[in-house]
Amino acid sequence: MNIAVDQSTEWLNARARHVETVLERMLPKEDVVPARLHQAMRYAVLGGGKRVRAALVYAAGYACAAQQAGVEGRTFDTTHYASQHAQLNQALDLAASSVELVHAYSLVHDDLPCMDDDTLRRGKPTLHVQFDEATALLAGDALQPLAFDWLAQMPVDAALIVQATQVLARAAGSLGMAGGQAIDLESVGKTLTRDALQCMHVLKTGALLSASVTLGGLAAAMAPVQKKSLDAYASAMGLAFQVVDDVLDVTADTAQLGKTPGKDAAANKPTYVSLMGLDGARAFAHQLHAQALKGIEPFGPSADLLTLLADFIVLRNH
Ligand code: IPE
Ligand code: IPE
Ligand code: MG
Ligand code: MG
Ligand code: MG
Repeated sequence: MNIAVDQSTEWLNARARHVETVLERMLPKEDVVPARLHQAMRYAVLGGGKRVRAALVYAAGYACAAQQAGVEGRTFDTTHYASQHAQLNQALDLAASSVELVHAYSLVHDDLPCMDDDTLRRGKPTLHVQFDEATALLAGDALQPLAFDWLAQMPVDAALIVQATQVLARAAGSLGMAGGQAIDLESVGKTLTRDALQCMHVLKTGALLSASVTLGGLAAAMAPVQKKSLDAYASAMGLAFQVVDDVLDVTADTAQLGKTPGKDAAANKPTYVSLMGLDGARAFAHQLHAQALKGIEPFGPSADLLTLLADFIVLRNH
């Protein structure tokens, strides 16, 4: 593995452990009635996942705060700054865990027999296999509103909470993730044009990744000029994430992925690999990586964590 991925993996792993403790603490406990539903929600959310969306929330928030202070973003991710910026970190914890709830719900529904019909997720049986289909539906139904409950608790100006609510709602809805999933299902067996494929990927995956970046910015009360840079980064990285997911579906194995590879071709789904071939898709991901880094140039070293994450998203093997 090269140095860029090593460094980004180290930071991402540390952040993932932190987010896990926040989620573990905030989710309803397994014995709270209705216990089976709460067990299923915890099963869906805890103990796995790269937590890339959560990490994007922190990286974007720290970039904005660090630029105001004239330091590197990474500087904010230390105990010293953590105690000085308790309020910022609390807002980021809530935004990051909200996004992970929506993401976990989208995976539970994505795996259902009526969607991608998958039996393995994050190295474990999918939720409907471990529990049952009705519980998988209900766990998704319950995780989504819980995300908005947590977002509403951010210790920031009420106007920022209103904006954050709209950002997450739009990213999850019919003009975002759910809409992209609808196009995905409609597209089985079809050859899409490059524009149509891009539209599907931007909605089903890009929207929530982009929202993660925006939520980080909102938690740090970003300036309009910072929002412009973050938007450019987010749209490129959101698309790149699904392009790489398409590549890994072909190139990675079950142990690396924690999910069954080869599903896209088996289900006859149009992907960047089916459209451009493996080399073409990889080259496109690198092009998007360059575009994302160009977007955050105005941040300078304040955006070092966003740079680390861009490296991870494009060079990852799981
Ligand atoms: C998988 O997302 C689903 C897509 C949108 C491509 P991740 O690859 O982020 O899944 P986890 O959270 O790490 O399991
Ligand atoms: C999923 O895309 C996008 C979601 C909104 C969950 P995929 O169907 O390719 O995700 P995986 O490969 O099952 O994780
Ligand atoms: Mg799918
Ligand atoms: Mg799937
Ligand atoms: Mg996939």
